[in-house]
Amino acid sequence: MTDDIDIKRLTEDQARAELARLADLLARADAAYHTEDAPVISDAEYDRLKRRNTAIEARFPGLKRTDSPSDRVGARPAEGFAKVTHAQRMMSLGNAFAPEDVSGFDTSVRKYLGMGPGTVAYTAEPKIDGLSLSLRYEHGALVQAATRGDGAVGENVTANALTIEDIPQRLTGAPELLEVRGEVYMSHADFAALNDRQAARGGKSFANPRNAAAGSLRQLDAGITRSRPLRFFAYGWGELSQPLAETQMGAISRLKALGFSTNDLTRLCQGPEELLAHYRAIEEQRATLGYDIDGVVYKVDDLALQARLGFRSTTPRWAIAHKFPAETAWTRLEAIDIQVGRTGALSPVARLTPVTVGGVVVSNATLHNEDYIAGRDSSGGAIRDGKDIRVGDWVQVYRAGDVIPKVADVDLSKRPEEAEPYIFPRKCPECGSDAIREEGDSVRRCTGGLICPAQAVEKLKHFVSRAAFDIEGLGAKQVEQFHADGWIAEPADIFTLRERYGSGMQQLKNREGWGERSAQNLFDAIDERRTIPLNRVIFALGIRHVGEVGAADLARHYTRWPAMISSLDAARPAMERLLRAEAAVLAERAAAAQEGRRARVTDTRAAVWAEDPPLPSGARAAWEDLVGVDGIGTTVAVALVTAFAQPAERALIDRLVAQLDIQPVEAPETSGSPVAGKTVVFTGTLEKMTRAEAKARAEGLGAKVSGSVSKKTDLLVAGPGAGSKAAKAAELGIETIDEDGWLALIGAA
Ligand code: IVH
Repeated sequence: MTDDIDIKRLTEDQARAELARLADLLARADAAYHTEDAPVISDAEYDRLKRRNTAIEARFPGLKRTDSPSDRVGARPAEGFAKVTHAQRMMSLGNAFAPEDVSGFDTSVRKYLGMGPGTVAYTAEPKIDGLSLSLRYEHGALVQAATRGDGAVGENVTANALTIEDIPQRLTGAPELLEVRGEVYMSHADFAALNDRQAARGGKSFANPRNAAAGSLRQLDAGITRSRPLRFFAYGWGELSQPLAETQMGAISRLKALGFSTNDLTRLCQGPEELLAHYRAIEEQRATLGYDIDGVVYKVDDLALQARLGFRSTTPRWAIAHKFPAETAWTRLEAIDIQVGRTGALSPVARLTPVTVGGVVVSNATLHNEDYIAGRDSSGGAIRDGKDIRVGDWVQVYRAGDVIPKVADVDLSKRPEEAEPYIFPRKCPECGSDAIREEGDSVRRCTGGLICPAQAVEKLKHFVSRAAFDIEGLGAKQVEQFHADGWIAEPADIFTLRERYGSGMQQLKNREGWGERSAQNLFDAIDERRTIPLNRVIFALGIRHVGEVGAADLARHYTRWPAMISSLDAARPAMERLLRAEAAVLAERAAAAQEGRRARVTDTRAAVWAEDPPLPSGARAAWEDLVGVDGIGTTVAVALVTAFAQPAERALIDRLVAQLDIQPVEAPETSGSPVAGKTVVFTGTLEKMTRAEAKARAEGLGAKVSGSVSKKTDLLVAGPGAGSKAAKAAELGIETIDEDGWLALIGAA
């Protein structure tokens, strides 16, 4: 037994054995704790083993195991199910509402694939209103069932899934590894019977079949799940060792042959017309299906094309959900509240007399912005025939899918006489600063910036969100609490919590649910995020217009924080000059229009750059470098440079950065990729793929795709019609290949 040997005296062999033993013991303790809900060791013993493991790893870093328990942050949540990281993310679907959206989807598929005439074949099938589940089969045996969770990490509900009749426990003739994905749902009849039973027992009743299905599956006691009549339709797959078929339709038949329930209303359709015809057919049968559906899902049938189309950040390009029209209800508008968001946007929220809309009780709904309340669209045209919305009105509320309920219409015949037009506030209700609307912006924003507590909290929530710092144990709720208590005012404060904890942060300790251990766990989780990729830092700052994808584009381009900062600073005078020139052009156009003459607009880009006084050296190049980053437009560039130029904002960012060790961008899995880390430029006509596809593919292989040729370019892929970029590449001696050469290089020829 190596357990009682003092760590300082362990030999390397003993240490290796001990780490293996601890990994096994802790993994079993985790499993027992979660799935069987029956801990096998005490908390204190668990902690002791974990500390021992960490100490041995500190002494023998080379022996750290790939399945080391110290990498499982919060592997033992206080309650609930164990977390499961999906081998392949569980995606959601983009939505179509109108027939035009469906032809738009078809057009975008064909455009992305660069297709000529001819139709694309799609499958069309009901969109089941339940909850998705991923079933992992290894060597034909069901080894794990996981809910979708946030798409990356779900909950382990294996014991519960094993109680569902539609889910086979063993498969014959399946690939060695197969993840089957589908929807767990409850039929109308079973839902009604369940609610009757619940009522008879004095238990709680469920609002709709979907809530009943979710509540039944997510039971810590699988015995309860067994007593609930859940069903499962298979409609897709995740990781697999061998393809199921060459087409979506073929794959679904294969799943059916393996023993899964698949939906009989799945049809193969040629082009958007046939999709819409099947949509109408399904809509007609909706009421008699016996289970809830909320739309029809269209998927490109050819799996090779699906693979080429790939995914955006959370949705596939090869599928879309065509939703049924929203359900609506009428109720009274009791009040209009204003919420202040991360970017200072003032959002009006309708407080309603509670009403049931499609099985869900609604008491709040969005009113979008001040124009919407006034009955105008963003360009001043009438909406709802120009009817405004007033407190006291009868309003029509609707829900489409999971989205926030909206107010659609108002009934003027029921308007109380004393109802007054709503006056949108000109001051921020949270901090009293002026709330202004910029030219062309439909939103009024608080100008309070950092002094506005609402903006600060929303910024902090964004900062800790999943795609940003994603700190285990520090979610929106905790951020709100810590902010209210005065512990965190800005992001940098998160990283000094541990220091301050010892000296007075005892309140935290005394709060319910915050023992010494949970505080230390939180501080460990925070420390773990001090080392963080550049893209996450950029995204976390919550700069307007800079989303997850834009942040990644910037991080790939600049690679390092100091390089990015000095470049953005250098670009500033050039940006300011351009903005001034643009404002002057606008003013001249307005004056000319008023005076009934032609505008005297002489300005060309070159003239702007040549104006006196001369720009500091490098300013123009830095600006052009920024707007040349593929995917970064002028709006993003302006927002970015401006944000870093605000002294208070900049000081806050500097305080944060001082706490961090910023790494280059999170690289995709590119081992063995011949183009990883290379800067590639595409120019001319590509014949076998579209530009967007080429870019996505190249980036997936770890390459940086740039829009312009410079000394930093490693490779130019030039199709027919390549012009100045090819010439410039030749001049700079940059390797140039054609499309076939590119495909051969990346192993796709
Ligand atoms: S395919 C990568 N097919 O809808 C795309 N999803 O809004 C995977 N859903 O999370 C989804 N019926 O829970 C697909 N026939 C169907 C579906 C379906 C219901 C759910 C699923 C998904 C959500 C997206």
